[in-house]
Amino acid sequence: MYILQAKHLDKFYGKTKVIKDVSFSIKKGQIYGLLGPNGAGKSTLIKMIAGIEKVDEGEIIFEEEVKNINRYKRNMGILTQDIALYPSFTAHENISFFCSLYSYRGKELRKRVDRASEFVGLTDCKNKKVEEFSGGMMRRLHLACAIAHTPKLIIMDEPTVGIDPQSRNHILKSVKQLKNEGASIIYTSHYIEEIEEICDEICILDKGEIIAKGNSEYLKSYYMRNNTYIIILKNKVDNIENAIKKIDGISYVSVSNREIKCSCSKGINILQKLVNTICNNGGVIESIKNELPTLENVFLNITGEKLRN
Ligand SMILES: Nc1ncnc2c1ncn2[C@@H]1O[C@H](COP(=O)(O)OP(=O)(O)OP(=O)(O)O)[C@@H](O)[C@H]1O
Ligand SMILES: [Mg+2]
Repeated sequence: MYILQAKHLDKFYGKTKVIKDVSFSIKKGQIYGLLGPNGAGKSTLIKMIAGIEKVDEGEIIFEEEVKNINRYKRNMGILTQDIALYPSFTAHENISFFCSLYSYRGKELRKRVDRASEFVGLTDCKNKKVEEFSGGMMRRLHLACAIAHTPKLIIMDEPTVGIDPQSRNHILKSVKQLKNEGASIIYTSHYIEEIEEICDEICILDKGEIIAKGNSEYLKSYYMRNNTYIIILKNKVDNIENAIKKIDGISYVSVSNREIKCSCSKGINILQKLVNTICNNGGVIESIKNELPTLENVFLNITGEKLRN
């Protein structure tokens, strides 16, 4: 049922521990998101899973109890953070090269190369040299090279960095399609919206440690201690900030012109009191919105820092 289990992983670079007691399990067919700021340890973790970096402590177990990475490698497809392609080769030559490393030859190899380039929407450019490609096209070709051998586990390290929205959408669509075709995917990103959109489960890493894991709804409901309301008034009301502060249960208020932002602990219903206070002070309400929690807020709540740094 699990394609991968990571148990109590540690990793040192010199004397610095950069991965600290990291454990997680990925079910077959899932898109598993690794989210974290720069230097969190995402790439290091991915390199450990891919067998590029040594595991200092702990173990990684692939499906059917396979513990030896070399026995599982051909089932994996890896998109490293830095694009690894041959610039003077054409798109097809690149895919063909990487696919042939898995012992595919002749007709079967050609079929796979065609299928992979079609999958990423690069059939029209198949004979173009990579050095003439845009960044987005390179990312798509990178994906084609990683999947031509139909791996069961696809590991993607920031596959959408620095590309235009069209290529980004194409990649996100491709990831979902790969999942529909039965692959399991580890997806790393800084972009919270992407992680929220495509991942079944999410692991948030910071400074080499897991600080939260679960699906996005769970993370948001568990880690968000506050409800935040945004109230727009039709008129400007003096001193409304002080009046709202006095309401029992209010933990935060800020007023900017006609906009009031305030938070209260979850489970306390202060909306009626809030409306009464505003009206009693001469405010006319135009709209009230309950600000929905985001993963960004979750991260901020746990660490006190913004995710993108
Ligand atoms: N080859 C290396 N030698 C020494 N330290 C390293 C090496 N690679 C990474 N590190 C350190 O390990 C920590 C984790 O880095 P890693 O690249 O895994 O982070 P990341 O989450 O992928 O960051 P980014 O979002 O910037 O890609 C950082 O403190 C980094 O400086
Ligand atoms: Mg990285």
